[in-house]
Amino acid sequence: MRVKSSISNFFLLVVFITTCNADLLDLIGIGGTDQPPYCTVTPSTTPSQATCASGTLDDLKNARGTHSNDVRPDGLVPSWINIPLAKKGQQFAKDYLLSILLSHVYGLLSSGYPDAAYLLMFSGGSATPEDAQKRYMATITQVFVWYQDTLFGPPTANVSDILVSLAKVRSLHIAVAAAAANRMATNGNLVDPNIYENYNLTTVLSGPYYQDLNASDIPQTMRDPPPSNLNVSGVVPFNQQVAALTQFAFAGYPVLFSEQLGINATDDEIWAFNHLWAVLGYALGIDDKYNCALQPNLQQQRQYYREIFETFNVPIQFNMDFNTKALGDITAAAFQALVSPLPLTPNFILYRFLVDIVQIPAPIVWGTLTNEEKNVSNAFEFSMRPMFMTNPVYRLTENSLLWTGMVTAGSNLFGVQNYTTRYYRARTVFFAKYD
Ligand SMILES: *[C@@H]1O[C@H](CO)[C@@H](O)[C@H](O)[C@H]1NC(C)=O
Ligand SMILES: *[C@@H]1O[C@H](CO)[C@@H](O)[C@H](O)[C@H]1NC(C)=O
Ligand SMILES: *[C@@H]1O[C@H](CO)[C@@H](O)[C@H](O)[C@H]1NC(C)=O
Ligand SMILES: *[C@@H]1O[C@H](CO)[C@@H](O)[C@H](O)[C@H]1NC(C)=O
Ligand SMILES: *[C@@H]1O[C@H](CO)[C@@H](O)[C@H](O)[C@H]1NC(C)=O
Ligand SMILES: *[C@@H]1O[C@H](CO)[C@@H](O)[C@H](O)[C@H]1NC(C)=O
Ligand SMILES: *[C@@H]1O[C@H](CO)[C@@H](O)[C@H](O)[C@H]1NC(C)=O
Repeated sequence: MRVKSSISNFFLLVVFITTCNADLLDLIGIGGTDQPPYCTVTPSTTPSQATCASGTLDDLKNARGTHSNDVRPDGLVPSWINIPLAKKGQQFAKDYLLSILLSHVYGLLSSGYPDAAYLLMFSGGSATPEDAQKRYMATITQVFVWYQDTLFGPPTANVSDILVSLAKVRSLHIAVAAAAANRMATNGNLVDPNIYENYNLTTVLSGPYYQDLNASDIPQTMRDPPPSNLNVSGVVPFNQQVAALTQFAFAGYPVLFSEQLGINATDDEIWAFNHLWAVLGYALGIDDKYNCALQPNLQQQRQYYREIFETFNVPIQFNMDFNTKALGDITAAAFQALVSPLPLTPNFILYRFLVDIVQIPAPIVWGTLTNEEKNVSNAFEFSMRPMFMTNPVYRLTENSLLWTGMVTAGSNLFGVQNYTTRYYRARTVFFAKYD
């Protein structure tokens, strides 16, 4: 099978890369106790206690009028961080890097909320495939820095790659939010409503994807517009709702759908990954009350994520406007270019998203796949995914293949020096473009 042979062709290269890439593979000493952080339902005066987001999503549903990017006078690391637990979450993300990346791709593609999509269109970099590649490569690169660097503790603000990266991403978000608010005030629209007027959809988002959704047994309540799409007044750009839903796009799927992603992890590992994202959400300006990843325990966390998924992610599939579909189309193509050694084509990704995450049959999309895509899909389902679950050496090989492809693509897009070391990646690999 093509997938297997390309994997064995890469074997020697992979061994070489893994030997050199201590950066990716460094083992982290995990010490201390792994007590989960705890949160209360009412604001607490104890700094080590956070306030959980309301389990009914009431806070999240009504958060479109509240600015994100709040000031962090005491630094980007929350007082309630459990550093050993966050490090364990990083180790988990590195062990399952390819599965985690796939989950992020699913997450981003299934978050076509107007507040997110139009902010992305406004902040440029999604109009052309090349700009989109730069944007998503920069995003993934920084997220991987957050999985790689373990230096959370003070007084390391200027030497910690993770804190430098988070501060930079945060400053870009603040600048984009301000520019977007300014544009809204002067113009009413963030972008020209006809921005993709002449765009022809190239993926199954042109129709088949929606035919399968329509023909599924998804209930009507999950087809109605989600709270992110209701016409309410006082919506601010870069609000807490869109920030928290984006956090869910990164943190939620490995927690909800680990087996479908090829992740064979213990609850402790999943909880650790989730805690890492609670910390990252705080650093990026999400208040505890909206922080998706801040539930008291894994069981409640799963319920909370399931609720988000059914209230926002599934309904948005039925309620995307043409511009948002065009953005999704361009995004899916950009991802493929970034991981080119792996045959993750847009239609393959969209098919697997329907089947593994939405969990509906998708015969119409299947019918549009090329023979090679069908083979890759079968290989993924029946051979690769089971091996991810049982074979750490195979996982490492695949992770290294992914990383090799990313280093090549990243060096081409951002310069060899800028991409080669984590120090430089955390300081130079960014993308923001708006006027
Ligand atoms: C970190 O760097 C910034 C900007 O260069 C500087 O203003 C600040 O004083 C530095 N902080 C420390 C603790 O070195
Ligand atoms: C989109 O498709 C139409 C009809 O096939 C074609 O006329 C048009 O030039 C295409 N637009 C672009 C931007 O490729
Ligand atoms: C969706 O399905 C219903 C019946 O199940 C059908 O009437 C409708 O035309 C379909 N819509 C689309 C866009 O396929
Ligand atoms: C919101 O308003 C716009 C324009 O007035 C309309 O096209 C859209 O369908 C409305 N959305 C909902 C969910 O009511
Ligand atoms: C797909 O797999 C079948 C057998 O499993 C093989 O005969 C065929 O050549 C493959 N096609 C492509 C395009 O890889
Ligand atoms: C998960 O991995 C263990 C070995 O660590 C293995 O025994 C078990 O069968 C795997 N689970 C699945 C579902 O593959
Ligand atoms: C490296 O990144 C810096 C800062 O983003 C940029 O100015 C420079 O042009 C980049 N170098 C290359 C070779 O692209």
